[in-house]
Amino acid sequence: MKLVAQGLGWKAAGRAIVQGVDLDLVPGETFGLIGPNGSGKSTLLRLIAGLLPRAQGQVWLDGTPLHRMPRREIARRIALVSQHADTTETLTVRDAVELGRTPWLSAFSPFSDLDRQIVDDALDAVEMRHLAGQGWPSLSGGERQRVQIARALAQRPRLLILDEPTNHLDIHHQLALLRLVAGLDMTVVMALHDLNQAMGCDRVGVMQGGRMVACGRPADVISTALLSETFRVGARILTDPADDSLLYRFHMLENDG
Ligand SMILES: Nc1ncnc2c1ncn2[C@@H]1O[C@H](COP(=O)(O)OP(=O)(O)OP(=O)(O)O)[C@@H](O)[C@H]1O
Ligand SMILES: [Mg+2]
Repeated sequence: MKLVAQGLGWKAAGRAIVQGVDLDLVPGETFGLIGPNGSGKSTLLRLIAGLLPRAQGQVWLDGTPLHRMPRREIARRIALVSQHADTTETLTVRDAVELGRTPWLSAFSPFSDLDRQIVDDALDAVEMRHLAGQGWPSLSGGERQRVQIARALAQRPRLLILDEPTNHLDIHHQLALLRLVAGLDMTVVMALHDLNQAMGCDRVGVMQGGRMVACGRPADVISTALLSETFRVGARILTDPADDSLLYRFHMLENDG
């Protein structure tokens, strides 16, 4: 699915939280969004999903303006897992993932064997099937995060938006998630703090002070100049002799604090 966004912006209490962001997502690409705390990543992800009232700018999905699409039509195309995704209800894991099927169900197409299969596949994708019957409140932080991702997968969107999807995950599940995302037949936009993980994206966009200050291939964008200006850190770029992939080793700048 082709997503084009122009002039995206959002204000809170008169302050521009995001401003003037243009974005053109290539179908099937994995786009990483990086930037310091408070730079506007989560806000931008919500703007892309059409979830913020009083938004500036415009988003088109395959040429159709997002604001002309009914919520249900948007939910068939875009799934968002937010940074603090939670659910207060006393659901089981399976119930929570079944919620992802909601935009596809109606009186004429009730929950079917196919929906059940899609939910099973989503649970398998995040290695949560064995806990399908467990109650949501009893899950660990990382388990909750994996269930939210399964819910989004069960939605079968064409654009998957993930806000810091690896932040609660152990290293195995971080790598499993990144591999899963790379293999998905859908466009993915995800906010990441781990810049070494961001190197695995097809493209990255850098947020700073509400603006997208750089966008392009990770190796071109994530330069030592950008790291010092935007992230206020220094870095040495190392090369993994096994496969020549680049790795960053970060340090505080001499003149910082
Ligand atoms: N409703 C709101 N009212 C006032 N300020 C807001 C509101 N929502 C967000 N902000 C502010 O906007 C800025 C951007 O927030 P956002 O959550 O988009 O940042 P982020 O880049 O996702 O940060 P993080 O890396 O910490 O998740 C922050 O300074 C935040 O305090
Ligand atoms: Mg955020």
